[in-house]
Amino acid sequence: MSNASNQQVLKVLVAQAAVERLPDQPFFLGVGTGSTVDLFIDALAASSKPLVAAVSSSARTSERLRAKGLGVMPVSELESPLALYVDGADEVEPGLALTKGGGGALAQEKIVASAARRFICIVDESKLVDRLGAFPIPLEVIESAIAPIEWAIKARFPEAQIARRADLRTDNGHPILDITGLRIDDPAESEDWFNGLPGVVCCGIFFKHRAHEVLVATAGGVRVMSRNDRNGQNAPS
Ligand code: A5P
Repeated sequence: MSNASNQQVLKVLVAQAAVERLPDQPFFLGVGTGSTVDLFIDALAASSKPLVAAVSSSARTSERLRAKGLGVMPVSELESPLALYVDGADEVEPGLALTKGGGGALAQEKIVASAARRFICIVDESKLVDRLGAFPIPLEVIESAIAPIEWAIKARFPEAQIARRADLRTDNGHPILDITGLRIDDPAESEDWFNGLPGVVCCGIFFKHRAHEVLVATAGGVRVMSRNDRNGQNAPS
């Protein structure tokens, strides 16, 4: 099997495992964005789980949810926090901090994650890293602030490469800058630092809103990493 089709099999596996963890009583759910989440939506739609409505993190996800006959409501209409948010990630480190935004949804994902008490992240094992930074760190930014943001980043990280993602605006209408060449030893400090730059709408490091649990699809089954298990050595689910 090719690497791509193998990865697709793993994504289907982890999407199904996430659906199995959903409640059997009526529930609202935060839903992230990306190719793994697309498969999660398909598995959810095919299941008998009693979803009342999904709070979506992007137009892409809303469209897929609706196409599958699932209800969608805006985060602004929530009357209380969601019990659960499910989303993918571009990188996952042992403390369950994440890099996200590679798919072009960013601030909306962090907003929906912040509206949930619990975040279950779904990935295949290719997303596991010892530290964040090999995958470019995305920043959703206000267009007029791009130059001073770049100066500030270059002043602190002279080795950083900064690229504006071509032909992309987020659902909020903002461009994304991808920062490569960083080594993120302290995700909490890095997230705070980037978020503190005037004009940064959202940094793709998720430490404050890191996952509570990560379901990792491997050739041997789905493994569960949780916040109090830094090495992810829990038994397969
Ligand atoms: C969307 O912008 C991202 O945060 C995605 O959650 C992330 O890129 C994972 O996407 P895949 O499931 O497609 O790898």
